[in-house]
Amino acid sequence: MNLPMQHLGKLDRMETASVDELRHEQLQRLRWSVWHAYTNVPFYRQAFDAIDLKPMDINSLEDLAKVPFTVKADLRDNYPFGMFAVPMEQVVRVHASSGTTGKPTVVGYTQGDIDTWADIVARSIRAGGGSAGDKIHVAYGYGLFTGGLGAHYGAERLGCTVIPMSGGQTEKQVQLIRDFAPDIIMVTPSYMLNIADEMDRQGIDPKALPLRLGIFGAEPWTNEMRAELEDRLGIQALDIYGLSEVMGPGVGMECLETKDGPTIWEDHFYPEIINPDTGEVLPDGEYGELVFTSLTKVAMPVLRYRTRDLTRLLPGSARPMRRIDKITGRSDDMLIIRGVNVFPSQIEEQVLKCNALAPHYEIEVYKKGNLDCVDIRVELKRGAEGEQLKTEAANELAHHIKSFIGISTTVHVQDSGTLSRSEGKAKRVFDRRQD
Ligand code: DLL
Repeated sequence: MNLPMQHLGKLDRMETASVDELRHEQLQRLRWSVWHAYTNVPFYRQAFDAIDLKPMDINSLEDLAKVPFTVKADLRDNYPFGMFAVPMEQVVRVHASSGTTGKPTVVGYTQGDIDTWADIVARSIRAGGGSAGDKIHVAYGYGLFTGGLGAHYGAERLGCTVIPMSGGQTEKQVQLIRDFAPDIIMVTPSYMLNIADEMDRQGIDPKALPLRLGIFGAEPWTNEMRAELEDRLGIQALDIYGLSEVMGPGVGMECLETKDGPTIWEDHFYPEIINPDTGEVLPDGEYGELVFTSLTKVAMPVLRYRTRDLTRLLPGSARPMRRIDKITGRSDDMLIIRGVNVFPSQIEEQVLKCNALAPHYEIEVYKKGNLDCVDIRVELKRGAEGEQLKTEAANELAHHIKSFIGISTTVHVQDSGTLSRSEGKAKRVFDRRQD
């Protein structure tokens, strides 16, 4: 393991442990977590009893494969607090994520869980090169969404000065970034673009600001988008991963020294990749669905939670813990267009190849008779204009999409600033086939 000098003495014990030590610790923690879930959550007790499995049957990390999966519907079926493993008096906080259907998914934390979460978000910011004394502008939404408060507590834990701006009020975001001069910003990549556009509009050169690091996550984004953000803002753009069911932001974070995909903080969250169709565990390096088992969470342990996120596990680089590759998308975001599987991130890659186009895009899918049709709406870059340029850019993008992804699309290039802007997670896909 190649640790840069400035990290020596600063990392947590498990960030420098050998892989053997890590696996040993994980097994101890896994045994506890399985026992805890079985003993205190009726859902898990029933799931184990139904297949005659006992917590003491889990004697190795491989034995985890015997444990049944947990899916989002299980959380919804136990709405609101049925998955909690401790009495309500010990739950100091709840968060919730809104699903596509009615009821939100509710998650709970003990004071100890909140402390662990703050520790791993602090660790994540430090992995990105942040340290005590840095000013951090948090533009993830505060509230039931885990982004704002998760980032906030972690930044405080590291000893940073937090600017708890939350999402929205884009003009004010820019004013505060200019006046308070943060070193780090934590925000979704799509909202960062929106903020960058507003800086342009106000005639502010982002490269002249002290901002040096963006900690971007909560939605899929490509390496092409990373290059765009870094170039445009003169910052390092790093990927933070997480989901509320497992904790919130900071389940994994990309390390500054390698920038090669989020390191999963495996001392708290045990990752597996499975074949989404068969549930079979796949070896590291193979693509499939990411599954997590919490190892230390007290209020709401989750065993083999199916994230629907598609990626693969990669060996540790800056840390002994494994990394994930960039999330290609969620299995529920995958569009099947005339039999071809397409993820929005693939379209994003192609948009970013076209010089005249800004990285804002929408994908609309509908039926004409029995045929799937795809319209892509994109914008010209700020300052670019003209019908001829629009036609050329549309042809260029349609051509790239056809040759790299294999589908025919109708591309509409609009004037700069005419597509709706995200203030959090961007909504890119409008699938009208079910309407
Ligand atoms: O989005 C937690 C979070 C907040 C992560 C801020 C990072 C930063 P949920 O709202 O429950 O939680 O959504 C979780 O968002 O399953 C992924 O599909 C997606 N997601 C989160 N981070 C990334 C990322 C938060 N870095 C869902 N890359 C996850 C790609 C991401 N997708």
